[in-house]
Amino acid sequence: MKVLVTGVCGYVGSRIAARLAGASRGLEVFGVDNLSRRGSETSLRFLEERGVRFFHGDVRLREDLDALPGADWAVDCAANPSVLAGTGSSGVSTAQVVGANLGGTLNLLEYCRLRGAGLVLLSTSRVYSSAALGALPLKKGPTRFVPAGKFPAGFSAKGVSEKFSTAAPISIYGATKLASEVLAEEYAEAFGFPLRINRAGVIGGPGQFGKADQGIFSFWACSYALGRRPKFIGYGGRGLQVRDWVSAEEVAELILRQIRAPGAAAPRTLNIGGGPENSMSLRELDDFCKDFFGVRGGTQGVAATRLNDVPYYVSDSSLARRHWAWSPSESNGTRLERTCRWARENRDFIARWWGR
Ligand SMILES: NC(=O)c1ccc[n+]([C@@H]2O[C@H](COP(=O)([O-])OP(=O)(O)OC[C@H]3O[C@@H](n4cnc5c(N)ncnc54)[C@H](O)[C@@H]3O)[C@@H](O)[C@H]2O)c1
Repeated sequence: MKVLVTGVCGYVGSRIAARLAGASRGLEVFGVDNLSRRGSETSLRFLEERGVRFFHGDVRLREDLDALPGADWAVDCAANPSVLAGTGSSGVSTAQVVGANLGGTLNLLEYCRLRGAGLVLLSTSRVYSSAALGALPLKKGPTRFVPAGKFPAGFSAKGVSEKFSTAAPISIYGATKLASEVLAEEYAEAFGFPLRINRAGVIGGPGQFGKADQGIFSFWACSYALGRRPKFIGYGGRGLQVRDWVSAEEVAELILRQIRAPGAAAPRTLNIGGGPENSMSLRELDDFCKDFFGVRGGTQGVAATRLNDVPYYVSDSSLARRHWAWSPSESNGTRLERTCRWARENRDFIARWWGR
C-alpha cells in the first residue's frame, strides 16, 4: 500500500509518516511539503532515515500534486494551523490561510478522485463553536476550570463529542477546516472514495518545535527549556483554562487502523484527543514545568482573553474507542515528561527557530 502525507515536514505530518513507514514492509510512504514552516527542512533527514520519500511541492498548486506518484491513501497534514492566523494579528492574511488550508484540501481531493485514493483529513477541535465552548457552565477550582451545571448538547463529563455545535464563530482557521470537511464529504459521496475525518484536540510531544500556534503543551516546555517564562493569557490571567492532548504518534495509531480497514463500518467523523485523563490547565502545566526545570516564583498573567480562545476543551473520543479500539497509549505524565526532556536536550535546536 502507498500513502501520501501532505505537510510531511511538519510536526504531525513527519511523525505520522514515520510511524506508518515503520509499521510494515508493505507500506510505502512518501510526502510533500513546501517547507513554509520555519525549521520544517530539519525534518528531511528524519524522514530519509525512516524511508519516507520527500517531494518538494505546494498543495495550493494543482500541478505540484499532479506531479506526485499515485497512492492508495492521502493523509492531509498541510495547513497553517494557527487559530490566530488570518485574523490580522499573525502576519498571515485571511486569503493566505484559506488558500493553504481549504485550497490545499480541494487540490488533494482532486488528487484522490483522479488517483482513486482514500483520504484521511486531519481536522481540528477548532471546528467547534467558540461561543458555545465559551458558554459552558464552569466553576473555578483551585487549579483549573471544572465543568459543573447543566451541560449543552454534545457535552458531558467525558468532554466535547461530535454532536457539539459547530456554529460560528469558530475562527478563520476552524472555518477553513470545517469547510474542508464539508467539501471532502461531498467528494467522497460523489466519487465514492473512502474518507476519514479525525478532529484532533491539541497534538504535541517530543519533536515539536513548540511555537504557540502548534499547541500549548510543547510551547510551555520549550519556553522553560529556553529560560523564558510564559504568561497565562486570558480568563483573568490565572491559568485555569483546560486542554487535553495526544502525541502525533498516538494519532498515527488510529490512522494506521483506518487505512488498513477502508470499508470498516465506523462514523466518518471522529473526535480524537486525550480526554479528561490527559487534560491539564495552564496552571497545572506550569507547575509541572517549573518542577521539571527547577524554576521558582510566580507566573505572570494577562487578564484579557484573546479572540476565539476557549476556557475549556477536552475531547470525548468515545466513538474512536468504540469503533477503532483507539485511545491514547501514553499517560499524561509520561508524555509531558518526555516532551520536557526533549526540549531540554534540544535547547540549541529550538532556540534557532525561536529567533534567539
Ligand atoms: N498541532 C496540533 O495541535 C493540531 C491539532 C489538530 C489538528 N492539527 C492539524 O494537523 C496538521 C499539521 O499540523 P502541525 O501542528 O504539524 O503543523 P506544522 O506547521 O508543524 O506542519 C504543517 C506543515 O505543512 C507545511 N505546509 C504549509 N502550507 C503548505 C502548502 N501550501 N503546501 C505544502 N506544505 C505546506 C508546512 O511547511 C509544515 O511543514 C494541520 O492540518 C493541523 O490543522 C494540528
